Amino acid sequence: MPDSPQSIETLDQLAAQALAELTGISDSQTLEHWHTTYLGRKGKVTLAVRRVGELPKEERPAFGQHANRVKQQLEAAYEERARLIKAQEMERSLAEGAVDVTLPGHPVLRGRLHPSIQTLRRILQIWADMGFQVYRSRDVETDEYNFQLLNFPPHHPARDMQDTFYTTQPDVLLRTHTSPGQIHAMRAYCPQPIRVVLPGMCYRYEQITARSEIQFHQVEGLAVGYHIRFTDLKGTLTDFAQRMFGAGRKTRFRASYFPFTEPSAEMDVECILCHGKGCRLCKYTGWLEILGCGMVHPVVLQNGGYDPTIYSGYAFGMGVERIAMLCYGIEDIRYFWGNDLRFLEQF
Ligand code: PHE
Repeated sequence: MPDSPQSIETLDQLAAQALAELTGISDSQTLEHWHTTYLGRKGKVTLAVRRVGELPKEERPAFGQHANRVKQQLEAAYEERARLIKAQEMERSLAEGAVDVTLPGHPVLRGRLHPSIQTLRRILQIWADMGFQVYRSRDVETDEYNFQLLNFPPHHPARDMQDTFYTTQPDVLLRTHTSPGQIHAMRAYCPQPIRVVLPGMCYRYEQITARSEIQFHQVEGLAVGYHIRFTDLKGTLTDFAQRMFGAGRKTRFRASYFPFTEPSAEMDVECILCHGKGCRLCKYTGWLEILGCGMVHPVVLQNGGYDPTIYSGYAFGMGVERIAMLCYGIEDIRYFWGNDLRFLEQF
């Protein structure tokens, strides 16, 4: 402010300048700066008002009253602007930190059981409903349990049916089927009657193809008692197939051979895709093979500790992935251990 002689006019000019500046301010920092510049202790208006002494005595009261009004007016304008800016800033910060409740959320990925395990549990549930207890036995076996006690002598040609993963330890191997569990169960329960299922992973040193894997689950079944006959085996397995694949589902038994059962059979169920008419899944036979079974061989009963002249029993073994493939229409067994989420997430 140049040192022009003090007057009401120069004060008004100053006030007008201040008000004009004020209307252009939109943030609280600049606003505070404005307040210091004009109305602070050393502010332009404050200083201008103080120069009242430069005026002739008679003009001083009028100037003083006018100066007070000007100061009040500026303070009021300042308060008004401060309120406005505060409201705007509040609005801005609310808009920035706002939660848009209409945005789609992040889906939570749900874990689930592997299709093999889901199928295994369904199978075990059915056997549990029929009074079979689960009996666990080991994955790592000896040649004795996996073969010899099951009536495979050391060079028996039936060993070729099961190419084996051997370990560096002589005669220690990965079980090629769940049948060695029969011997473990019999030796554990003898001489009581038995009704157990033995689930578990089996291993075979085979070429991996759409139909065969080097590892797969089986569920073995074993019943030992006093008057168990082949009709019991047939009836029980037929009932299982109805519960697993639906009431009215046809089954058939074909004669087969296993060293540890006599007589031996394989059970087929009516094709679940074409209902026996013949299609690609059943290779146009109308039937799907799901298990091997038979009456426990007397030598095996004896190896388990049971006198075959008093006791008899039946056994069966089914492939879990094979049944899962039939139930879900899975065309390639390699999907099971491929760990492809696009496959696993469908179950
Ligand atoms: N262990 C046989 C297999 O792996 C299946 C089977 C079990 C057959 C029990 C008869 C009795 O193929």
